[in-house]
Amino acid sequence: MMTLSEMAVDVLTTADGRQKTAKSRAHAARWSAARDAGTPIPVGGATPPLRPSRPAQPELLDPRDVPKRKPGSPQGRIALLHAVAHIELNAVDLHWDIIARFADTPMPAGFYDDWVRAAADESRHFELICACLEEMGSFYGALPAHAGMWRAAEDTAGDFMGRLAVVPMVLEARGLDVTPGMIGIFRKAGADSAVAALETIYAEEVAHVAYGSKWFHFLCGRHDTDPIVAFHALVRRYFKGPLKPPFNEEKRAEAGLPPDFYWPLAEETPARSR
Ligand SMILES: [Fe+2]
Ligand SMILES: [Fe+2]
Repeated sequence: MMTLSEMAVDVLTTADGRQKTAKSRAHAARWSAARDAGTPIPVGGATPPLRPSRPAQPELLDPRDVPKRKPGSPQGRIALLHAVAHIELNAVDLHWDIIARFADTPMPAGFYDDWVRAAADESRHFELICACLEEMGSFYGALPAHAGMWRAAEDTAGDFMGRLAVVPMVLEARGLDVTPGMIGIFRKAGADSAVAALETIYAEEVAHVAYGSKWFHFLCGRHDTDPIVAFHALVRRYFKGPLKPPFNEEKRAEAGLPPDFYWPLAEETPARSR
Protein backbone atom coordinates (compact mmCIF):
# COMPACT_ATOMS: atom_id res chain seq x y z
CA MET A 1 0.00 0.00 0.00
CA MET A 2 1.20 3.50 -0.85
CA THR A 3 2.15 6.01 1.82
CA LEU A 4 0.62 9.48 1.58
CA SER A 5 3.90 10.90 0.19
CA GLU A 6 3.95 8.19 -2.50
CA MET A 7 0.36 9.10 -3.40
CA ALA A 8 1.44 12.72 -3.72
CA VAL A 9 4.31 11.81 -6.04
CA ASP A 10 1.94 9.61 -8.07
CA VAL A 11 -0.33 12.63 -8.69
CA LEU A 12 2.59 14.96 -9.41
CA THR A 13 4.12 12.60 -11.99
CA THR A 14 0.84 12.06 -13.89
CA ALA A 15 0.77 14.34 -16.94
CA ASP A 16 -2.80 14.18 -18.25
CA GLY A 17 -5.13 16.63 -16.49
CA ARG A 18 -8.12 14.35 -15.94
CA GLN A 19 -5.93 11.36 -15.05
CA LYS A 20 -4.15 13.57 -12.53
CA THR A 21 -7.41 14.75 -10.94
CA ALA A 22 -8.90 11.22 -10.92
CA LYS A 23 -5.84 9.92 -9.05
CA SER A 24 -5.95 12.93 -6.75
CA ARG A 25 -9.57 12.27 -5.78
CA ALA A 26 -9.03 8.51 -5.39
CA HIS A 27 -6.00 9.01 -3.14
CA ALA A 28 -7.84 11.64 -1.10
CA ALA A 29 -10.75 9.23 -0.61
CA ARG A 30 -8.32 6.49 0.52
CA TRP A 31 -6.70 8.82 3.02
CA SER A 32 -9.99 9.95 4.59
CA ALA A 33 -11.48 6.43 4.66
CA ALA A 34 -8.41 5.17 6.50
CA ARG A 35 -8.54 8.10 8.92
CA ASP A 36 -12.24 7.46 9.60
CA ALA A 37 -11.53 3.75 10.19
CA GLY A 38 -8.86 4.66 12.76
CA THR A 39 -6.13 3.07 10.63
CA PRO A 40 -4.36 6.11 9.17
CA ILE A 41 -2.07 5.77 6.16
CA PRO A 42 1.53 6.64 7.08
CA VAL A 43 2.80 9.95 5.68
CA GLY A 44 6.12 8.28 4.80
CA GLY A 45 8.61 10.03 2.57
CA ALA A 46 9.05 10.25 -1.19
CA THR A 47 10.89 12.84 -3.26
CA PRO A 48 8.54 15.00 -5.32
CA PRO A 49 9.75 16.09 -8.77
CA LEU A 50 11.11 19.65 -9.02
CA ARG A 51 8.28 20.31 -11.50
CA PRO A 52 5.08 18.27 -11.85
CA SER A 53 4.25 16.43 -15.07
CA ARG A 54 1.80 18.30 -17.28
CA PRO A 55 -0.01 17.48 -20.55
CA ALA A 56 1.65 18.32 -23.91
CA GLN A 57 -1.10 20.94 -24.40
CA PRO A 58 -1.59 23.75 -23.42
CA GLU A 59 1.56 25.33 -24.74
CA LEU A 60 3.15 27.26 -21.86
CA LEU A 61 4.17 30.83 -22.69
CA ASP A 62 5.71 33.72 -20.83
CA PRO A 63 2.77 35.73 -19.41
CA ARG A 64 3.74 38.66 -21.69
CA ASP A 65 3.22 36.45 -24.75
CA VAL A 66 -0.20 35.08 -23.74
CA PRO A 67 -2.69 36.97 -25.94
CA LYS A 68 -5.13 39.12 -23.96
CA ARG A 69 -8.79 38.87 -24.96
CA LYS A 70 -11.70 41.07 -23.96
CA PRO A 71 -14.14 39.26 -21.62
CA GLY A 72 -17.09 40.84 -23.50
CA SER A 73 -16.93 38.19 -26.24
CA PRO A 74 -17.50 34.42 -26.16
CA GLN A 75 -13.82 33.97 -27.14
CA GLY A 76 -12.81 36.20 -24.25
CA ARG A 77 -14.92 34.21 -21.80
CA ILE A 78 -13.40 30.94 -23.08
CA ALA A 79 -9.93 32.44 -22.57
CA LEU A 80 -10.84 33.47 -19.02
CA LEU A 81 -12.14 29.99 -18.13
CA HIS A 82 -9.10 28.41 -19.76
CA ALA A 83 -6.88 30.49 -17.48
CA VAL A 84 -8.96 29.37 -14.46
CA ALA A 85 -8.61 25.69 -15.50
CA HIS A 86 -4.84 26.17 -15.67
CA ILE A 87 -4.81 27.71 -12.18
CA GLU A 88 -6.90 24.82 -10.78
CA LEU A 89 -4.65 22.15 -12.29
CA ASN A 90 -1.64 23.95 -10.85
CA ALA A 91 -3.44 24.07 -7.49
CA VAL A 92 -3.90 20.27 -7.54
CA ASP A 93 -0.14 19.87 -7.88
CA LEU A 94 0.58 22.55 -5.27
CA HIS A 95 -1.58 20.78 -2.67
CA TRP A 96 0.12 17.41 -3.18
CA ASP A 97 3.58 18.97 -3.47
CA ILE A 98 3.43 20.58 0.00
CA ILE A 99 2.55 17.16 1.49
CA ALA A 100 5.54 15.33 0.00
CA ARG A 101 7.98 18.27 -0.03
CA PHE A 102 7.79 18.91 3.70
CA ALA A 103 7.05 15.38 4.93
CA ASP A 104 10.23 15.58 7.06
CA THR A 105 8.58 18.18 9.30
CA PRO A 106 6.38 16.30 11.79
CA MET A 107 2.83 17.67 11.59
CA PRO A 108 -0.45 16.64 13.25
CA ALA A 109 -2.70 14.39 11.14
CA GLY A 110 -5.15 17.30 10.85
CA PHE A 111 -2.64 19.12 8.64
CA TYR A 112 -2.75 16.27 6.09
CA ASP A 113 -6.55 16.04 6.38
CA ASP A 114 -6.81 19.68 5.35
CA TRP A 115 -4.37 19.48 2.44
CA VAL A 116 -5.78 16.22 1.10
CA ARG A 117 -9.34 17.60 1.27
CA ALA A 118 -8.27 20.79 -0.51
CA ALA A 119 -6.46 18.72 -3.18
CA ALA A 120 -9.73 16.86 -3.83
CA ASP A 121 -11.55 20.23 -4.06
CA GLU A 122 -9.01 21.54 -6.59
CA SER A 123 -9.43 18.38 -8.64
CA ARG A 124 -13.19 18.92 -8.82
CA HIS A 125 -12.66 22.59 -9.67
CA PHE A 126 -10.49 21.62 -12.65
CA GLU A 127 -13.06 19.08 -13.83
CA LEU A 128 -15.95 21.56 -13.43
CA ILE A 129 -14.16 24.22 -15.48
CA CYS A 130 -13.15 21.65 -18.13
CA ALA A 131 -16.83 20.71 -18.47
CA CYS A 132 -17.75 24.41 -18.92
CA LEU A 133 -15.06 24.85 -21.59
CA GLU A 134 -16.35 21.78 -23.44
CA GLU A 135 -19.91 23.09 -23.24
CA MET A 136 -18.63 26.28 -24.92
CA GLY A 137 -16.97 24.28 -27.73
CA SER A 138 -13.44 24.44 -26.35
CA PHE A 139 -11.27 22.36 -24.02
CA TYR A 140 -8.31 22.67 -21.65
CA GLY A 141 -5.23 22.72 -23.88
CA ALA A 142 -6.89 24.62 -26.74
CA LEU A 143 -5.17 27.91 -25.81
CA PRO A 144 -1.71 28.81 -24.53
CA ALA A 145 -1.31 29.23 -20.77
CA HIS A 146 1.05 30.97 -18.34
CA ALA A 147 4.42 29.28 -17.94
CA GLY A 148 5.25 30.89 -14.59
CA MET A 149 2.65 29.16 -12.43
CA TRP A 150 5.04 26.78 -10.69
CA ARG A 151 7.46 29.58 -9.83
CA ALA A 152 6.07 30.11 -6.30
CA ALA A 153 6.54 26.40 -5.58
CA GLU A 154 10.15 26.39 -6.76
CA ASP A 155 10.99 29.58 -4.86
CA THR A 156 9.65 28.11 -1.61
CA ALA A 157 10.78 24.49 -2.13
CA GLY A 158 13.09 24.78 0.89
CA ASP A 159 10.90 26.82 3.19
CA PHE A 160 7.69 25.33 4.61
CA MET A 161 6.47 28.55 6.23
CA GLY A 162 7.40 30.49 3.09
CA ARG A 163 5.24 28.06 1.08
CA LEU A 164 2.27 28.57 3.42
CA ALA A 165 2.69 32.35 3.35
CA VAL A 166 2.92 32.63 -0.44
CA VAL A 167 0.60 29.92 -1.75
CA PRO A 168 -2.56 29.77 0.38
CA MET A 169 -2.20 33.13 2.16
CA VAL A 170 -1.22 35.28 -0.85
CA LEU A 171 -2.13 33.46 -4.08
CA GLU A 172 -5.29 31.66 -2.99
CA ALA A 173 -6.40 34.75 -1.02
CA ARG A 174 -6.02 36.72 -4.26
CA GLY A 175 -8.56 34.31 -5.76
CA LEU A 176 -11.08 35.50 -3.17
CA ASP A 177 -10.51 39.09 -4.36
CA VAL A 178 -11.02 38.45 -8.07
CA THR A 179 -13.62 35.67 -8.27
CA PRO A 180 -16.75 37.81 -7.59
CA GLY A 181 -15.87 40.02 -10.59
CA MET A 182 -15.47 36.92 -12.76
CA ILE A 183 -18.81 35.54 -11.61
CA GLY A 184 -20.34 38.89 -12.66
CA ILE A 185 -18.91 38.57 -16.20
CA PHE A 186 -20.45 35.11 -16.71
CA ARG A 187 -23.74 36.07 -15.08
CA LYS A 188 -24.07 39.01 -17.49
CA ALA A 189 -23.46 36.61 -20.39
CA GLY A 190 -26.11 34.15 -19.07
CA ALA A 191 -23.45 31.41 -18.82
CA ASP A 192 -25.20 29.46 -16.04
CA SER A 193 -22.83 26.51 -15.70
CA ALA A 194 -19.79 28.78 -15.51
CA VAL A 195 -21.55 30.86 -12.82
CA ALA A 196 -22.35 27.70 -10.84
CA ALA A 197 -18.78 26.37 -11.18
CA LEU A 198 -17.21 29.66 -10.11
CA GLU A 199 -19.61 29.96 -7.17
CA THR A 200 -18.56 26.49 -5.98
CA ILE A 201 -14.91 27.46 -6.33
CA TYR A 202 -15.47 30.77 -4.50
CA ALA A 203 -17.22 29.05 -1.58
CA GLU A 204 -14.56 26.33 -1.22
CA GLU A 205 -11.50 28.54 -1.60
CA VAL A 206 -12.29 30.34 1.68
CA ALA A 207 -11.45 27.09 3.49
CA HIS A 208 -8.16 26.72 1.60
CA VAL A 209 -7.00 30.17 2.71
CA ALA A 210 -8.15 29.30 6.23
CA TYR A 211 -6.05 26.09 6.21
CA GLY A 212 -3.04 28.18 5.22
CA SER A 213 -3.61 30.68 8.00
CA LYS A 214 -4.31 27.95 10.59
CA TRP A 215 -1.12 25.97 9.91
CA PHE A 216 1.02 29.07 9.47
CA HIS A 217 -0.06 30.16 12.94
CA PHE A 218 0.57 26.64 14.23
CA LEU A 219 4.19 26.73 12.99
CA CYS A 220 4.69 30.25 14.38
CA GLY A 221 3.56 28.93 17.74
CA ARG A 222 5.99 26.02 17.48
CA HIS A 223 8.89 28.38 16.73
CA ASP A 224 7.68 31.09 19.11
CA THR A 225 7.62 33.72 16.34
CA ASP A 226 5.20 36.59 15.78
CA PRO A 227 2.88 35.57 12.90
CA ILE A 228 2.52 39.04 11.40
CA VAL A 229 6.25 39.81 11.48
CA ALA A 230 7.06 36.37 10.04
CA PHE A 231 4.39 36.67 7.34
CA HIS A 232 5.61 40.07 6.15
CA ALA A 233 9.25 38.91 6.04
CA LEU A 234 8.41 35.72 4.09
CA VAL A 235 6.14 37.40 1.55
CA ARG A 236 8.71 40.14 0.93
CA ARG A 237 11.35 37.47 0.46
CA TYR A 238 9.49 35.05 -1.82
CA PHE A 239 6.73 37.05 -3.51
CA LYS A 240 7.92 39.58 -6.05
CA GLY A 241 6.01 42.84 -5.99
CA PRO A 242 3.30 44.36 -3.80
CA LEU A 243 -0.14 42.87 -3.15
CA LYS A 244 -2.89 44.42 -5.25
CA PRO A 245 -5.96 46.01 -3.68
CA PRO A 246 -8.93 46.03 -3.67
CA PHE A 247 -9.02 43.18 -1.18
CA ASN A 248 -12.06 41.09 -0.32
CA GLU A 249 -11.77 42.02 3.34
CA GLU A 250 -14.90 40.14 4.39
CA LYS A 251 -13.90 36.78 2.89
CA ARG A 252 -10.28 37.24 3.95
CA ALA A 253 -11.44 37.79 7.53
CA GLU A 254 -13.65 34.71 7.30
CA ALA A 255 -10.51 32.80 6.25
CA GLY A 256 -8.49 34.00 9.25
CA LEU A 257 -6.57 36.66 7.36
CA PRO A 258 -7.00 40.03 9.12
CA PRO A 259 -6.07 43.34 7.40
CA ASP A 260 -2.82 43.85 9.34
CA PHE A 261 -1.44 40.81 7.46
CA TYR A 262 -1.94 42.11 3.93
CA TRP A 263 -2.42 45.90 3.97
CA PRO A 264 1.22 46.67 4.92
CA LEU A 265 2.29 44.65 1.83
CA ALA A 266 -0.08 46.44 -0.55
CA GLU A 267 1.08 48.85 -3.21
CA GLU A 268 0.72 52.51 -2.29
CA THR A 269 -2.79 53.74 -2.88
CA PRO A 270 -3.82 57.39 -2.41
CA ALA A 271 -7.10 56.65 -0.64
CA ARG A 272 -7.15 53.81 1.83
CA SER A 273 -10.80 54.25 2.63
CA ARG A 274 -11.41 52.24 5.72
FE1 LIG B 1 -9.60 25.85 -6.66
FE1 LIG C 1 -7.64 26.41 -3.47
